Amino acid sequence: MSEAVDYSAVTTGAARRRAAALGLACRYVVAELPGAPLRDGCADLVYTGKGALIWMRDLAAWARDVARLLRPAGHLFVYEAHPAAALWSWDADEPRIRADRSYFGDCFVNDTFPGNGAVEFQWTLGEIVNVVLAAGLELLHLAEHPEPFWRPGGITAAAWSGRLPNAFSLLARRSRQTSQHPQPGRLHEDRPARDRVAPHVHLIPVEPGPAVVGDPVGVQQRPRPQQGFCRRIGS
Ligand SMILES: C[S@@+](CC[C@H](N)C(=O)[O-])C[C@H]1O[C@@H](n2cnc3c(N)ncnc32)[C@H](O)[C@@H]1O
Repeated sequence: MSEAVDYSAVTTGAARRRAAALGLACRYVVAELPGAPLRDGCADLVYTGKGALIWMRDLAAWARDVARLLRPAGHLFVYEAHPAAALWSWDADEPRIRADRSYFGDCFVNDTFPGNGAVEFQWTLGEIVNVVLAAGLELLHLAEHPEPFWRPGGITAAAWSGRLPNAFSLLARRSRQTSQHPQPGRLHEDRPARDRVAPHVHLIPVEPGPAVVGDPVGVQQRPRPQQGFCRRIGS
């Protein structure tokens, strides 16, 4: 039996219907992460990805929650947008680096479908790896991929032609020793949780839209920027 967590009732409802249609045994839990209401050590495998980490305000807390959920020797698999991909323009002739974003920025405003207007947190690849290690997991594999995990229809971006990283995958494992309890890490102190920007984040309810697979527009609540929320460069 699989269990899936998402704080959107719209998304979980669509996924529940899809699982039923396919005859898959999956329980969907509506809850905010980190802080999954699932018991310690319940998972052989935790998967997260395709546009999930950008919503995590406290990445270290997310990694600790994952480590808590894994049984000893259980695995974490992440398949996500490459953090650098936020910098690529979607120009068709050649890829350009957007002047209004920074790889080392705290966050940026998504200005394309489907997340248009939402604030996404910017985590570097190093930060992602370090929170996983600091949560007590062993890194088994890290790969960068030229193919984005999703191509919006009707767009042909030169940045997706194979020269630039657009996605990454990560496989990590919890220790086999049952006695080992993941310890809060010390590797992530450069840029810990986005607490300093959090007070500026507004969570406003939006009307649930039609559920489209892979479409975060359907989320019931999403952060909206206030003026000065992001350190936007050149705008
Ligand atoms: C782009 S979708 C990715 C969905 C899924 N991982 C997939 O592969 O299709 C992002 C999802 O994250 C959910 N989400 C965002 N922030 C969350 C949070 N803090 N806790 C739980 N779910 C969250 C949204 O409701 C949305 O359904």
